[in-house]
Amino acid sequence: MRSFRIAVFASGRGSNFQALADAQLRGALGGVISILVCDKPQAPVVELAQAANVDVFAFQPKEYATKEDYEREIAVELQQRGVELIVLAGYMRLLSPSFVEFYSGRIINIHPSLLPAFPGKDAIGQALDYGVKMTGVTVHFVDGGMDTGPVIAQKAVEIKEGDTAELLAQRIHAVEQKLYSEVVSWFAQGRISLNGRNVTITE
Ligand code: GAR
Repeated sequence: MRSFRIAVFASGRGSNFQALADAQLRGALGGVISILVCDKPQAPVVELAQAANVDVFAFQPKEYATKEDYEREIAVELQQRGVELIVLAGYMRLLSPSFVEFYSGRIINIHPSLLPAFPGKDAIGQALDYGVKMTGVTVHFVDGGMDTGPVIAQKAVEIKEGDTAELLAQRIHAVEQKLYSEVVSWFAQGRISLNGRNVTITE
């Protein structure tokens, strides 16, 4: 049977990329990471992908005349590999409406808060500043907005007395790294369906 092909988009450290690659090695991802797309060629995630023998497309959008040209080239790379799911893992750039439309229902993102609370940048810092007692992790479909798409899975993480951003981030990242590969495997098994904003996971 043909393997389920995944593209990971990332911009930074790559701990989620690494967790997905590790899950693939264990046979727990249900698919194969066919390509890493990175908008920052110097980012650590590029070396992680090379070490994992994953093809890398690492170019900055400013190297192209327009954002559409950049994304068109990415779409060609994805089509050549038969990619069925785009997994955003710390990709700190909004995709254009036409790209999101083209891959509608096939792009997911992970975000370090319980959305709709604390969308956008530095969600962990935002939660600490606000003083909430509970935050967490959300995996959601990507739509045209910033962290606004239908929620697929959420896990809560408690904020403890005296927590620092670093301590809280460590606990949140540990939850992310476990949850994301699980959600990707649900996709690979065809267990996720979307009805309006409601997502159902079938057994
Ligand atoms: C992760 O915590 C992810 O949830 C966050 O970026 C981090 C990337 O870490 N994404 C967002 O904030 C998206 N709005 P990583 O590069 O180590 O995987």
